[in-house]
Amino acid sequence: MFTKVKQIFNFHYYSCIFFIKLIHALEISLSLHHFNYKIHKIMSNSQVKFYSGENIPLELHKTRIVQKLNLVPIERRLEALYEGGYNTFGLKTTDIYLDMLTDSGTNAMSDEQLAAMMRADDAYAGSQSFIRLQKAVKDVLNAEYFLPAHQGRAAENILACAYVRKGNLIPMNYHFTTALAHITEKGGQIVELLYPEAYKIKSSHPFKGNMNLEALEAYIQKHGKERIPYIRMEASTNLIGGQPFSIENFRAVRAIANNYGLRIVLDASLLGENAYLVQQREEEFKNTPLADIIKIMTGLADIIYFSARKLSSSRGGGICTNNESIYKELEALVPLYEGFLTYGGISIREIEAMTVGLYETQDETVISQSPAFISYLVNEADKRGISMVTPAGVLGAHVNALDMCSHLPQTQYPAGALAAAFFLISGVRGMERGSISNQRDEYGNETFADMELLRLAVPRRVFTLSQIMYVIDRLTWLKDNREMIGGLKFVYEPPVLRFFMGRLMPVTDWPEKLMAKFRKDFGDSL
Ligand SMILES: Cc1ncc(COP(=O)(O)O)c(C=O)c1O
Repeated sequence: MFTKVKQIFNFHYYSCIFFIKLIHALEISLSLHHFNYKIHKIMSNSQVKFYSGENIPLELHKTRIVQKLNLVPIERRLEALYEGGYNTFGLKTTDIYLDMLTDSGTNAMSDEQLAAMMRADDAYAGSQSFIRLQKAVKDVLNAEYFLPAHQGRAAENILACAYVRKGNLIPMNYHFTTALAHITEKGGQIVELLYPEAYKIKSSHPFKGNMNLEALEAYIQKHGKERIPYIRMEASTNLIGGQPFSIENFRAVRAIANNYGLRIVLDASLLGENAYLVQQREEEFKNTPLADIIKIMTGLADIIYFSARKLSSSRGGGICTNNESIYKELEALVPLYEGFLTYGGISIREIEAMTVGLYETQDETVISQSPAFISYLVNEADKRGISMVTPAGVLGAHVNALDMCSHLPQTQYPAGALAAAFFLISGVRGMERGSISNQRDEYGNETFADMELLRLAVPRRVFTLSQIMYVIDRLTWLKDNREMIGGLKFVYEPPVLRFFMGRLMPVTDWPEKLMAKFRKDFGDSL
């Protein structure tokens, strides 16, 4: 009798405990669900409002590894400029305070990327690291076939080798320096088909990178589709201020391409940022997750290529497609120029970093950080009367040198002069994106750029807000002393991509005078 009572008691006791645990588990899962919901809702910096009403781009990451910087005196910066041939590519980081040359290979990497690099499977062929990368390409870019290349321009070389022949024409929204160089090297020609709005420095047009659809159609009809191996669309058009195109525009380009049986090549180096601005600016996609927008965009192209130095905050690059015959057309060129198909000239550790970086491209908190800082920089500089490319784009803030140096003729390279002057007075290294970045025509004549810009790149999650405020402060001083900036002339001009290795000199002693004015105004400040 006693054992029977004990059995019944035990049964009820354990049932009770079981139900209490079940309810507890349900509570946890419900609260977790709630928590996840909250996390999901915080998608980007722009969604955090300040009580003060100020528009401050809040960081959604913390810094755990840091690098010491050098802010050397202006006298040393003048020497460094001379040593570097008045070309910011010639400077050394020991003389640079904020390196805003580019976001290429300089974006901060995540803890997850660094951890993944440790498990690299080094093998000449058949590495597991590459299989993981292939899966990431499929998951994120929705492309079945992937060909690795050591960086973006290597992918451009492969595409040019495969498809560009003498006399070919490649319509595009806008060129990128290396894409243009590879096409012209093969005897092809490019044509840029943007709407006039794209060339306006100050604009509120959300998609200045849109392809001019009427011009594209007219161009194909005029020259015939036979001469056009592909149409190139560049996401977040780099050289006109990191300006995106809309999906509506891309769909229309697809329709035109379909009409004429033409292929579309998408330069996806800045795809994450373009997708982010689509989410921010295109009504139809305002509630669409970044991951889906990215897939919609890649789904509109026949071939997608990218620089992983940008797209996934790592190194390397590659070409992807869902078309098996395109894959076969390109496959043999990878072992010829890059390396075997499962590494393509990329270190295996970087392949692991690329894999994680691709997945992180779907994360709004990662991708929104740089555009949010750029927008802060552009808007604050604009308020202080500095002529900036607006609306703020991606990759960097762009200062209009044709306004800052309106007293200089284009023959004296206003954007190059502004880049040199800004480094001199701040230690901040930007990049000339103007006529120096252009190449001469086939007869050796200068081709002046549509825009003369000083690009101040804001790599992902690298700089702090006070550093951005320093940039704004020094830009404002330079604007107030802008007449003191003088011109530059080439003393050594390489025949290809002259902006990289070219050496220049100031046409007068304006740098010394500008330095003296800095000392007068700032005393012994660095
Ligand atoms: C839009 C675009 N395409 C292509 C490239 C070339 O890539 P990489 O520097 O990796 O050769 C770049 C580099 O900055 C770029 O911005």
